[in-house]
Amino acid sequence: MKCVDRVWIVLGFLFCSLGSAGGSLRLAEDNIDEIVRQMSPREKAMLLVGCESLVSKDSLTVYVPGAAGYTKAFPQYGIPSTVMADGPVGVRIFPIKVDGKRHYCTCFPSSTLLASTWDTQLVETQAGAMGEEAAVYDVDVILTPGINIMRNPLCGRNFEYFSEDPVLSGLMGAAMVNGVQSRGIGTSLKHFVANNQQVNKLNNDSRIPVKALREIYLKGFEICLQHSNPWTVMSSYNKIGGILTQSNAELLRTVLREEWGYDGLVVSDWYGKRNSPEQLEGGTNLLMPGEKAQLEEIEAGIKSGALSMEVIDDAVKHVLDYVVKTNAFRKDIHAALPDLEQHATLSRSVAGQGMVLLKNDSCVLPLKGIKNISLFGATAYHSIAGGGGSSNVNKSHIVDISTGLEQVGFVLDRSLKDLYTKYNAYQEALLVDPKATDWERLSYRRYVYPEMDLMPNKTLVGEQAKSNDMAVVVIGRGSTEESDRKVHDDFNLSDSEIYMIDKVCEEFHARNKKVVVLLNIGGVVETASWKNKPDAILSVWFPGQECGHAVADVLTGTVNPSGKLPMTFPVRYSDIPSSKNYPTVGETLSGENFDYTSYEEGVWVGYRYFTTADKAVSYPFGYGLSYTEFLYSEPSVKKEKGRWVAKIKVTNVGAAEGHESVQVYVGAENRASENPLRELKAFGKTKLLKPGESEILTMNFTDYDLAHFDEPSSSWVLEKGLYKVSFGASCEDIRSVRDIKVKKQQRWGVNRVLNPVVPVQTMTID
Ligand code: BGC
Repeated sequence: MKCVDRVWIVLGFLFCSLGSAGGSLRLAEDNIDEIVRQMSPREKAMLLVGCESLVSKDSLTVYVPGAAGYTKAFPQYGIPSTVMADGPVGVRIFPIKVDGKRHYCTCFPSSTLLASTWDTQLVETQAGAMGEEAAVYDVDVILTPGINIMRNPLCGRNFEYFSEDPVLSGLMGAAMVNGVQSRGIGTSLKHFVANNQQVNKLNNDSRIPVKALREIYLKGFEICLQHSNPWTVMSSYNKIGGILTQSNAELLRTVLREEWGYDGLVVSDWYGKRNSPEQLEGGTNLLMPGEKAQLEEIEAGIKSGALSMEVIDDAVKHVLDYVVKTNAFRKDIHAALPDLEQHATLSRSVAGQGMVLLKNDSCVLPLKGIKNISLFGATAYHSIAGGGGSSNVNKSHIVDISTGLEQVGFVLDRSLKDLYTKYNAYQEALLVDPKATDWERLSYRRYVYPEMDLMPNKTLVGEQAKSNDMAVVVIGRGSTEESDRKVHDDFNLSDSEIYMIDKVCEEFHARNKKVVVLLNIGGVVETASWKNKPDAILSVWFPGQECGHAVADVLTGTVNPSGKLPMTFPVRYSDIPSSKNYPTVGETLSGENFDYTSYEEGVWVGYRYFTTADKAVSYPFGYGLSYTEFLYSEPSVKKEKGRWVAKIKVTNVGAAEGHESVQVYVGAENRASENPLRELKAFGKTKLLKPGESEILTMNFTDYDLAHFDEPSSSWVLEKGLYKVSFGASCEDIRSVRDIKVKKQQRWGVNRVLNPVVPVQTMTID
């Protein structure tokens, strides 16, 4: 018996009511073609348009409050409705009442934190737990993973994405897909492709030079599909080559289906106001969330002959191929309720493993001999579990950083805590609708409060320094799907935040007491101007609902941080090549960076630029400290059974047990100027190594992985010659290098597609 009583909806929208005439043919895995032949054009059209909200009253329709959308039921063919729900950090549905009690979903750490673990196995484990929750709550597909490239730190959705690098993004995405799908629940690989800004995201034309499109933006999707088979792929909102991705046959038919062999369901992102026949012709199979007008457009297209029956039937077949995989169809039996306690423990453990230790002077962390802490920062007492928008999970609680620290025995300065508690209560009263329910206050109505200004009180920080053992300062930054971030008071710290760090460091250091800064952030913030002040800096990212517990685990040393950055922290925002072609929120309302964005930086995204141009950064891609140290030895790279196999021995030479992740970068010795110095090709992570213990990591890549895209011949080309294989603790901390020899040139031709509507002047590095 399923735990959650299915809620049958009595009144459906007219267009969701399907009637139930019909014969005895019932959908089965092996009769899809026959069903397609039997369905009327209207029924087919109805199947291709999803349903957002209420659905009809029949035994094959299920309603899950808060889910993102449905496919419709056709009882006359035994076709059940199926349920799709967000998203990347857990199942997003309204908390469901069972036996008068509300049941929630687990809010896991954000994708950025997952990527920082560099541990695909761990990601699969989290994803498996997400899949279990979906199954229990009657959700058939979780709309995850988002694997768009972090082109620019201001993208409001970066926290939902993994990395600035396509290999890390693609493999993390595959781990997410494999983990969720191992529980019989589908995924949606999104947003295909180049959803890299939120400003005018519905219409922006991403003008990307084809080399960069192939090597950076499509590459993550290509890799993800090589290592997993998501039930669905979701197109993005933007245009590519001047055509909306949902209608873009070059993207969906030529690249996705023909070149990459994808055979699953292609769904549109959630937006109805598009030309429906064009979307189906372009290769979209299912229009989500679905509107009556779309149904009418499709029917009109069928009637007039503008929309071919071949296109319709192909799309219907893909929808039915998907339906037969779902729990809704298979009627699998699941546990009564998810094990939320166990999942909370998992969420806490994953969070600890993805936090990145950016600085740890004199080994101030893990904390020793500390009891009384001055905890500064509004976010310390009202911490951020995740980002806003569709990835918001309705969780039962969020453990604030203050609570997490208290629960492991630290004593927080009472007067400071009172001050922040009052300040936050004031902010809440100001910003949150008084009618909001408790669970809404933990999700849709949870805001990140602007930092309290400590400047007016001239004595407060000094008094804190006198009476406590140390200070912890928390900097909080929200991020949401609805908007991009700004440079001022967002990427750059605000005056209040800078003052807080300065003053706390000054007063505590004057008394020989330490200061630790915690960054409760979704993505990159400026660090170069202030990082020399505190003794330690830990990026805790958006760590999910167990935030405070996971922070306490790392600060006390229960967990040795092993996270490493999945993106570069530049010195200044303006150092990032794409900053020249990125919208400034509020100022860009038409034209460049709004109607279209020229990716003039080409492939010079993230570390590819900084390492090749030899430009200083604040913290490089792949960087992260540990409470122990690791020695790399015995590197080797050999060709075995058509693959390059890179091995390295990692030994824990410090005093604490810990994990280490190793990155394998490859670059040609005689590099063409349009190609980066070195690029990530593989990575691995050790088990928990005890002091003195070693492990040999084995990492693979292929010849094709080493090829670069050659626009004139529209092919991937691997030039013959010597290549340097670098084993790195980060992209700058290269511990060993081995040469490999490619004996002859190799080429893989692809279609000449997806050209930007006008040539893009691409940046070069001298
Ligand atoms: C988002 C998707 C999400 C969908 C359903 C869209 O606005 O872009 O990522 O899965 O809504 O909520």
